[in-house]
Amino acid sequence: MIDEIVTGKQVTLRPVQADDEAKLSEIFSDPEVARWWGDPAKSVQDALENTDDDSQFLIELDGEAIGFIQCTEETDPMYRHASIDISLRSPWQGKGHGPDAIKALAQFLIGKRGHHRLTIDPAAHNTRAIKAYERVGFKPVGLMRQYERGPSGEWHDGLLMDMLAAELRD
Ligand SMILES: CC(C)(COP(=O)(O)OP(=O)(O)OC[C@H]1O[C@@H](n2cnc3c(N)ncnc32)[C@H](O)[C@@H]1OP(=O)(O)O)[C@@H](O)C(=O)NCCC(=O)NCCS
Repeated sequence: MIDEIVTGKQVTLRPVQADDEAKLSEIFSDPEVARWWGDPAKSVQDALENTDDDSQFLIELDGEAIGFIQCTEETDPMYRHASIDISLRSPWQGKGHGPDAIKALAQFLIGKRGHHRLTIDPAAHNTRAIKAYERVGFKPVGLMRQYERGPSGEWHDGLLMDMLAAELRD
């Protein structure tokens, strides 16, 4: 688990603490977040859970908690990689803060944790997320059919994207 602050160009990633429940609830109950992340209560509970391979951060801008980002590190040497997921509150979407936060975490995972490959798996119809990840250097590598259940219980496709260390954009 990563327990240090990670800084981006504008945003700061601060490890989640037990007393962040209200801030997490504000993030995950935002309709433009719940639409992709599902049940807000479950997302808050998962975000407060500490496990060795998962690291959870609040994304802060000028001291305000504008979103959440997490990574999971696969430690099996044969498959070692890290996966990332993110959510920004709607007033801060569409302003480039997503790529800033993802790039900061990617630089940390590659530079400090020595990862050679990172993955991310947006819903295939989440065009904004896919564009944001491509801007950082992630490439679409495969369609995962009926991969994720949506808010009304229907299955939809997911897009597996990955990035090798040398592909991280400046
Ligand atoms: C996905 C997310 C992290 C992207 O971060 P962001 O800071 O909003 O991203 P950007 O501002 O860089 O915008 C990304 C792209 O989407 C485009 N975009 C902006 N508003 C858009 C909209 N309403 N619809 C579609 N694309 C849009 C931008 O033009 C940009 O494309 P470009 O790089 O070609 O210019 C953020 O929007 C978010 O948290 N959304 C809600 C939760 C979510 O979808 N999480 C991801 C689950 S995998």
